[in-house]
Amino acid sequence: MNSVPATTSPLQFIEEALDQLKKDGLYRKLRELSGEQLARARFDGREVINLSSNNYLGLTTHPKLKEAALRAVRDLGVGSGSVRTIAGTMELHMELERRIAVFKKTEAAVVFQSGFTANAGTVSSLLGKEDLILSDALNHASIIDGARLSRAEIKVFPHRDVEALERLLEETRQIKRRLVITDGVFSMGGDIAPLPKIAALARAHGAIMMVDDAHASGVLGRAGRGTVDHFDLHGQVDIQVGTLSKAIGVLGGYVCGSKSLIEYLYHRARPFLFSTSHPPAVAAACMAAFDVLEQEPERIERLWSNTRRFKAGLKSLGFDTGLSETPITPIIVGEADVAMRFSDRLFERGVFAQGIGFPTVPKGSARLRTIVTATHTEGDLDRALSILGEVGRELGVLR
Ligand SMILES: Cc1ncc(COP(=O)(O)O)c(C=O)c1O
Repeated sequence: MNSVPATTSPLQFIEEALDQLKKDGLYRKLRELSGEQLARARFDGREVINLSSNNYLGLTTHPKLKEAALRAVRDLGVGSGSVRTIAGTMELHMELERRIAVFKKTEAAVVFQSGFTANAGTVSSLLGKEDLILSDALNHASIIDGARLSRAEIKVFPHRDVEALERLLEETRQIKRRLVITDGVFSMGGDIAPLPKIAALARAHGAIMMVDDAHASGVLGRAGRGTVDHFDLHGQVDIQVGTLSKAIGVLGGYVCGSKSLIEYLYHRARPFLFSTSHPPAVAAACMAAFDVLEQEPERIERLWSNTRRFKAGLKSLGFDTGLSETPITPIIVGEADVAMRFSDRLFERGVFAQGIGFPTVPKGSARLRTIVTATHTEGDLDRALSILGEVGRELGVLR
């Protein structure tokens, strides 16, 4: 065969894409954490006040979770050895699912490998080509990917706009199976979905109602039961997703709902069917985390008192914190290069607040994303605020 030798690599486009990220100020080197994920932690060799983790309650290092994980390793080994539907359902996995269902006050629950696969696997298995998904504009990427995988038609309603959602529901009455889906707490803005109105609309129009409570579980509602509990909507939301990777401090995702929904997902959700289940240590640590949520309510109280203190400080400095109502507080600066420079300069002074730009947030709304945790001290927060003020003024973000 007389093929012409290639002069450039077929992977050349990767170099070009990386160069473009650098030009746009969006190229990120991964920061390396040495030691534990704590409120003050060592990243890239520097001790910083950590405002970037989702470790809301400080459970990543809780002694009871560590002990449960160690015990599970000693007694049960390090891996499950199979997908759940073949030989990889251990007693601990079933126990954890029962525990989560009781916690969420639903009939049943299924645990996935992550919150991402819980969303993507659920949405893609429930909807098909003939169906419609109505999705908030700022929903998480895992919902968007699940919706695309389902091949259903997708209509995006403007962020938290219940009137637009109502119009879409009116216009699409002829479609038999429709899913209305929203994040409970939005991951980049920290605002809460108007769930009572959305759930009422879904119900009135015979649509399935699903909420992704990744950032509400362990944070909102009684003992951290999430937005459904926060708004007292038990029985009015068909599908609740949560994560075990954020406030719970470990890894995984779960879906709660009726027994038949969960049995359907056992048979149809592709990440559940085709990817190995959690090691026993993960399930054991998650079980211990639910005990801690009940036994140590002061963690959630502390999370909220820290949140109030930090938000008040940011407001009095004059930062734009958007519509946040939860421990996720954005500091909106506009352009991505400003957000990245702001983040880098803060880091040099001892504060880690990640800069976030497009495509994670819309163009023109780049931001620092801050999260306080229950384990920050008031001293940590006040010090962080003082450094934020200094750097904000230096960069002209504050005037
Ligand atoms: C709103 C939302 N849903 C789902 C996920 C995915 O959760 P996990 O990290 O457990 O995969 C995240 C995490 O980034 C999230 O912010």
